Amino acid sequence: MRIRLLTAAALSAMVMAGAAVAEPIVIKFSHVVAENTPKGQMANKFKELVAERLAGKVEVEVYPNSQLFGDNKVLEAMLLGDVQIAAPSLSKFDRYTKSLQLFDLPFLFNDIDAVDRFQQSDAGQELLGAIKKKGLVGLGYLHNGMKQLSSSQPLRVPADAKDLKFRIMTSDVLAAQFEAVDAMPLKKPFSEVFTLLQTKAIDGQENTWSNIYSKKFYEVQPYITESNHGVLDYMVVTSTEFWMDLPDDIRSEVKKALDEAIALGNKVALDKSVADKQQIIDSNRSEVINLTAAERAQWVEVMKPVWKKFEEEIGQELIDAAYNSNN
Ligand code: SIN
Repeated sequence: MRIRLLTAAALSAMVMAGAAVAEPIVIKFSHVVAENTPKGQMANKFKELVAERLAGKVEVEVYPNSQLFGDNKVLEAMLLGDVQIAAPSLSKFDRYTKSLQLFDLPFLFNDIDAVDRFQQSDAGQELLGAIKKKGLVGLGYLHNGMKQLSSSQPLRVPADAKDLKFRIMTSDVLAAQFEAVDAMPLKKPFSEVFTLLQTKAIDGQENTWSNIYSKKFYEVQPYITESNHGVLDYMVVTSTEFWMDLPDDIRSEVKKALDEAIALGNKVALDKSVADKQQIIDSNRSEVINLTAAERAQWVEVMKPVWKKFEEEIGQELIDAAYNSNN
């Protein structure tokens, strides 16, 4: 009887102790692209590293394909504590800061190496703090790649885009870029692009090889012009409140895992910009148009005046620093 009583006491002590065991911190990572993209693979790698190194303390849940939030809602949700990490395209921060509009200026960067040099420079790193006043913190940049133009009609020179409707991300610079070629820009969420193209509600869009391939845009767009006219990269963000509330040791382990996952994502981005383009060519669903130097020069001439319009909001010094990363 005594033994039974002791066992019951021990059990109840164990239950009490169990109740005191801390629940793991849950990090919801929401994004809008497919899992086999640079961002999708980066998010999954981050989850894997955290599971390995912070088991029982932190748990990452990844929600791809706009399952949890679209990019237009995710930052609001983050400020409300409904999601902890996201990596929206740099074109989707218009409501939070004007400085990041820099990345949308057409023909600013020659290639992704120049983008990378700028992002790693002092000026680029400082931009990670551009959304601080809004309660958000940039934890790093992630590449996707240079953008191409897809369309229902062949686009060789700017005049070919006249009066066509193009889906754009929520960026005033991108709107001005398409207005510069007398086209009609429409700000729409990424999750709607395929249907808009398929139903011919729009004529075209701009995106990276990886997004065009993974979301099957090439199946409903007969032409893709290899324009490399702009960059589509991401800022990995969290809310300052969530980030600063993490215990110091956990915060530094989470950041380390993020940095490693970003490095993997950047490698995937480089590989996919070649491999996904080739998959599209091999599919024979879409013709890839290579511009001659003279044709490309026409796009540059018509689109580059957009810089002037946004020079005051972005800052001339920042534009110069970014442009100089081409050398
Ligand atoms: C993304 O790559 O996250 C989406 C880009 C887009 O909205 O076009």
